[in-house]
Amino acid sequence: MCGIIGYVGPRPCQPILVAGLGKLEYRGYDSAGLAIMTGGSIEKVRAVGNLAMLGEALDAAGRLDGDATNGGSTGIAHTRWATHGRVTEQNAHPHSADDGSVEMVLNGIVENHAEIREGLQAEGVELSSETDAEVVAHLIARNFEGDLTEAVRATVGELRGHFSFVAMHRDLPGVLVGARWETPLTVGLGEGETFVASAIPAFMAETREVLPVENGEIVTATADGVEIETFAGEPVERDPETVTWDEEAAEKSGYETFMMKEIHEQPEAIAETVLDRVRPGEGVDLSDSGLDDEFLAGLGRVVVVACGTSYHAGLVGRYAIETWARVPVECDIASEYRYRDPVVGPGDLVIGITQSGETADTLAAMKLAREKGATVLAVTNVMGSQATRESDAVLYTRAGLEIGVAATKTFVAQVAVMYLFALKLAELRETLPAEVLEGLEQALRDIPELMDATIDSVSEVVESVAERHVDQDFFLYLGRHIGLPVCLEGALKLKEVSYIPTDAYAAGEMKHGPIALLDESTPVVCVATDSPVLDKVLSNLEEVRARGADTIAIATEGSDRVGEVADETIFVPATDWVLQPLFAIIPLQLLAYHVARKRGLNVDQPRNLAKTVTVE
Ligand code: AGP
Repeated sequence: MCGIIGYVGPRPCQPILVAGLGKLEYRGYDSAGLAIMTGGSIEKVRAVGNLAMLGEALDAAGRLDGDATNGGSTGIAHTRWATHGRVTEQNAHPHSADDGSVEMVLNGIVENHAEIREGLQAEGVELSSETDAEVVAHLIARNFEGDLTEAVRATVGELRGHFSFVAMHRDLPGVLVGARWETPLTVGLGEGETFVASAIPAFMAETREVLPVENGEIVTATADGVEIETFAGEPVERDPETVTWDEEAAEKSGYETFMMKEIHEQPEAIAETVLDRVRPGEGVDLSDSGLDDEFLAGLGRVVVVACGTSYHAGLVGRYAIETWARVPVECDIASEYRYRDPVVGPGDLVIGITQSGETADTLAAMKLAREKGATVLAVTNVMGSQATRESDAVLYTRAGLEIGVAATKTFVAQVAVMYLFALKLAELRETLPAEVLEGLEQALRDIPELMDATIDSVSEVVESVAERHVDQDFFLYLGRHIGLPVCLEGALKLKEVSYIPTDAYAAGEMKHGPIALLDESTPVVCVATDSPVLDKVLSNLEEVRARGADTIAIATEGSDRVGEVADETIFVPATDWVLQPLFAIIPLQLLAYHVARKRGLNVDQPRNLAKTVTVE
């Protein structure tokens, strides 16, 4: 998650780029930078930190006034969420080719950057950063023979990964060329000026005429407009659309709330977290974590400590690790773990899951485990957070900044990291046949695309379910096995944003108490996706139905017998049952969302809650 913007037109572009970055800062703020072409030269300013730091650097460079003499008509800018390479000025974008001819900003990940880097170095190219992105600037320069579009086309043919980027060449003032592959890119068409950016809000103050760029397309922008073609060189005709959002909606990319925006960003969060770390046949690469393969191969036990949603991600991870790698896993709520003098020590791996990296109880639990001699791994979304300092190794989720207090995209990214970790263990410990491992690796890579489709396909039916149940005063969630953590998370989402009391229960345990709660008006949400215990779940669902309760089931596509038992069935795509939670959670997030919105509540800032809980 980084933010990029480019401008070409008659006005000095520095203030336009800086304002655009301001609207993209939610995508990352580890560092920022811009490059502006004036005449035949390119000037560049970069700074570590947020935009205020870039402002200071621009001030120091004497160019913040953005007047016509210091401004330029062609420029690109970037705000960074660090993935490959530390947070340093050298690693900040824009990145240049070694001869200074090309400047480029990129969002996403170049998976084969290491091979490209080696090839470039063998040819004598000096790379100046640790990033995966820099290689793209060098490739464009090497492929350039007078036509930047052609150079970009040749370059995308050499890249693997998911990325969008915008480049400019010293010899071609007034031209920007962008490419999109699985991360967002869009064009704004002004009067005699053109914008290319990661998201519409970056240029919405300047124009509302928008031309989306699709996957596998290259866009060549000049002040007069754009030409779009596919990577294969086929011209693309597309009419611009007019965006009618007001300023508040623009901040949320047109969504009503941050929570809804972040629900829609989940496929991208998983793509960023997973795609460059796993490739079928090549296995899982967690070398960025600092984990030692030998230690993992001999691991005796995993203990997960976390709070709230992060704890639920740990519970899903337990199924993956135990099923695939046959390593025993315990999960504990961090605030309990820290005070119960746990039996833990050398040879154990304690995983602290915390999106913020600052949750007091989780930090205390990690610290305690470390003092007792365990190896501690942090799974977090925030670089440099305290969790990264309280641990021996770190695995980052790459969900981008999450503003809504209710965790959505960070949850799915945490679950994805747990899957990666479980697959790595299975690979090292040889607990799965190679073809099964490869199948799972591919299935994990397929999730982002399928999840995108799931969000669209379930939205309408979930909203109608929410409409019917908006006035309920209690919801029961039931699930078993790997469906149980999904229920726990779904119930937490509903209670925190709608203030409706919920209970989430292991379905097999229902007749030991909670069944007494049921009457004809009770909505019972049941996670009945594919799992080794689906038959048992269906029996429990029958028992609930016999009491007259209103049953809403989440089922796997093709699993028609669930539809025969439940009053309402919401289908999600089929995948390996261990991976099902990534789909099953989507309708539950949306249900919580719609119920709360229909009650007129502020889902982004529910009462009494905080995004980061730094007190115990
Ligand atoms: C869930 O929507 C909440 N935001 C909350 O349960 C959260 O997951 C918990 O406070 C833990 O936060 P962390 O991941 O930042 O440690």
